[in-house]
Amino acid sequence: MQLRVVTDQPWDVAADVLVVPIIGEPTFQGPLDELDRRSGGELRAMADFRELRAKRHTTSLTSGGDLPAKRIVTVSLGDGDQVDREEVVRLAATAERRLAGRAVHSVAIWLSPLVEAEAFEGDAANAAELAARGVVEGSYDPKALYRPEIESKPPQLDELILIVPGADRAAVQAAAERGLIIGEGANAARNLSNRSANDLYPEVLADEARAIAERNGLWIDVIDADRATELGMGMFMAVGQGSDNPPKLIVMRSGGEGERDALDRHLAIVGKGVCFDSGGISIKPSDRMEEMKMDKAGACTVIAAIETVARIAPGTPLLALAPTVENMPGPHSTRPGDIVTALNGKKVDITNTDAEGRLILGDAMTYAERLGATHIVDVATLTGAVARALGHLITGAFGRPQGWYDEVVAAGARAGERYWQLPLIDDYVQDMESWYGDLQNSGSAEGSLVKSALFLREFVTVPWVHLDIAGTGYFRKPLPFGARGATGASHATLVELALAGANGTGAASAR
Ligand code: BES
Ligand code: MN
Ligand code: ZN
Repeated sequence: MQLRVVTDQPWDVAADVLVVPIIGEPTFQGPLDELDRRSGGELRAMADFRELRAKRHTTSLTSGGDLPAKRIVTVSLGDGDQVDREEVVRLAATAERRLAGRAVHSVAIWLSPLVEAEAFEGDAANAAELAARGVVEGSYDPKALYRPEIESKPPQLDELILIVPGADRAAVQAAAERGLIIGEGANAARNLSNRSANDLYPEVLADEARAIAERNGLWIDVIDADRATELGMGMFMAVGQGSDNPPKLIVMRSGGEGERDALDRHLAIVGKGVCFDSGGISIKPSDRMEEMKMDKAGACTVIAAIETVARIAPGTPLLALAPTVENMPGPHSTRPGDIVTALNGKKVDITNTDAEGRLILGDAMTYAERLGATHIVDVATLTGAVARALGHLITGAFGRPQGWYDEVVAAGARAGERYWQLPLIDDYVQDMESWYGDLQNSGSAEGSLVKSALFLREFVTVPWVHLDIAGTGYFRKPLPFGARGATGASHATLVELALAGANGTGAASAR
């Protein structure tokens, strides 16, 4: 797809479709009035017909009338104070998805109404980055994963035109190019996450990671079951040993061994890679068990994120770890009550084999520290509780110290992704004490969301943030701005966070 940034007015731009953001009730003043006039009254006619409404994420489509653009799609964004960075990604994705199945080759997005919204403070480059990313993310359709011939896909554009009158074209162009790459990375994460468990198991994900490493000049080490056992990864193996598909701990690195980035960090991103979570011996009810192929979304996200970072700013110091397993019942499975020794030496009483994510993440985080990690962010579909508490549009997050938590969430805000902080309540640790071990992997249901993070905290000694994407990692039904299935949630946050430590040119380091 060609990307073109133009500083013309929207009524001067030729394209198959012109995307017009509508903020609040369409009032047809200023440039919107001018656009309507130049189209020959098309926009007003749509509003009079009640086709064009103010309701958030509704769209309308009409002829371009006398404009050089053949057609107009409006996307309503609600009131101006709701227009933040996330909304720009959604606007672009919604427009792209609205055109699914249509023969469209070029789309032009008029960005001025967004750039003028409060959240952007006139930062056209930032708006362009997010819009370009939104178009790419909106073009993603999981229906095509196993049936590439499907015809109802959003259009694969030849040209995307971003209209930003008065902006610095070169700066906007560079930012938008970065947005395209970040969008492609999110889609790569989604492609991996959406694959079925009979198609993608630990060995396959490790092969995919090897291919990514080779393409991008990354260092990679895949730790197999024998080595994991030898190293003493008792929690990782306790989950991985129950399946015929052996576990793999995937470790990738850009930059040198232990190398610090521009912010003096050796950042590690760690993603939960449960290719299928049956619950193990503590087997899950069959209701919606098929969704548990998505339990590898965290792993897919960190693997995609390190590739994205390598594409945008090669050599940026970054570690990505993806402990990858299948949680299955069988003669080799861990039994409830089994006691294992974690890599950090703690004795863990596995009272519930369905609380497996924390086990594999714990050992992976200990290993990340052995590789020199000074800061850790883990991403995991860890608990059903977070989805019940916060739903599918905001990710639950924990962390310590607060300064590191704030940095991660600030990166999320720049990337247009929302987080809600949950507390690490020390008093609840005693509910996880075990008679036989140092702690058990699951306690009573009260506060189980908090306890999941408290368990993880036992295995990290450096600044750490835990992002629970069990709600946001995949959609059960399609939304105007997103397909059903994996969303790529937190990919952009991790990329933004890592790029903040990039040295030199091309990167987002200036921001
Ligand atoms: N993978 C699940 C969490 C999950 C549930 C993700 C629903 C997405 C949708 C996780 O391994 C799990 O089973 N968690 C248990 C924890 C409990 C056993 C302490 C849960 O949430 O019920
Ligand atoms: Mn589970
Ligand atoms: Zn799980």
